[in-house]
Amino acid sequence: MVKVAVLGYGTVGSGVVQVIEDNCEVVSKKSGTEVRVKYILDLRDFPGDPYEKLVVHDFNTILEDPEVNVVCETMGGVGAAYNFSKQCLLAGKSVCTSNKELVAKHGPELLQIAKEHDCSYLFEASVGGGIPIIRPIMDALAAEKLESILGILNGTTNYILTKMEKEGADFDTVLKEAQMLGYAERNPEADVEGHDACRKISILASLMLGKTVDSEKVYTEGITKITSDDFEFAKKAGYTIKILGVSKAQGSGAALVYVSPFFIKKSHPLAMVNDVFNGIFVTGNMVGDTMYYGKGAGKLPTASAVVADVIDAARHVGKNVPCYWDAEEADLADIKEASFRYFVRVKADSLEQIKGIAPGGKVVDAQVSSQAGYITPVLSEKVFAEVQEKLGDGILGRIRVYDAK
Ligand code: HSE
Repeated sequence: MVKVAVLGYGTVGSGVVQVIEDNCEVVSKKSGTEVRVKYILDLRDFPGDPYEKLVVHDFNTILEDPEVNVVCETMGGVGAAYNFSKQCLLAGKSVCTSNKELVAKHGPELLQIAKEHDCSYLFEASVGGGIPIIRPIMDALAAEKLESILGILNGTTNYILTKMEKEGADFDTVLKEAQMLGYAERNPEADVEGHDACRKISILASLMLGKTVDSEKVYTEGITKITSDDFEFAKKAGYTIKILGVSKAQGSGAALVYVSPFFIKKSHPLAMVNDVFNGIFVTGNMVGDTMYYGKGAGKLPTASAVVADVIDAARHVGKNVPCYWDAEEADLADIKEASFRYFVRVKADSLEQIKGIAPGGKVVDAQVSSQAGYITPVLSEKVFAEVQEKLGDGILGRIRVYDAK
């Protein structure tokens, strides 16, 4: 019998209890032993809730109960969640989490503690919510040298960009609507500035490289500067706009990891990932291209991924489920050394100037009043910065173009 404690009875935590209890038979069968929730830790009481009797307020009740061998951390944040996770692992209790911030910040340390204490730190739900992606990278693609991971990793921004494209609406209008519908937080910064996607690609890149990618060193650009005019030009040129988390192996052994909005060809499989859905495109040197698609957020999809980890932990009580992610820092290439084509939106009277400075590109005429569009040839970031400087306020916006797979 495996007894589970759930830390945090919010959206995901209550989903975890629901999945374990409603799917008790299938969860227990696949675990090879009966799995039941014994405690729910929360500061609040939940009168009338079917599981109100399981609620405790003192973390030590869980820590000191030898019957509890699996703990689900669904609190979020890097304060108490870190402290509690660490204590559980030190006590030999496996921890299953949806907390991408904590995994990105302290993953290697917690994995090492789990290894030393014959238990596991599992985090399938931390990237892509209900989409299987951690286990495919670690297990199903274990024989691969991964060449790249390219992902739409944030549902909120994908919803906003999809709406902007379909309705021709501007960023602020769609953001407000998304907030009203509960798709965007009241403080949307972590999503729209790309920080959430940055944590997720840092986790995936760490798994790809087997070393730690420090999310604070990952170049991150959000979507706040994208306008409805950009979509007009994108449409005309056969592209859509997506914010992508990218991890690309470089010949040197380093990887280029970053988050940026992109013009991406309408024919690319990721261009078809719309609304709040996430999609992750993983390329290996033997398997070629693979893609993972589904709900990247939400109570039951995310809880389902946490409970899949509970089953894995239940199958390995007293043992460590290995994860190839060392504390050693990965060698990261500098985006300043990278090269792209760039879509540039300019004032109409600056078109000739940019054609002169960056010759060999393609003019995009979307008939947007007093504006012109131009897609440059491949330029290094450094050279493009010089182009931008020369154009001064003639330049209204620029978006990188994703040409590779
Ligand atoms: N805010 C996140 C998103 C939630 O929009 O994808 C899931 O991590």
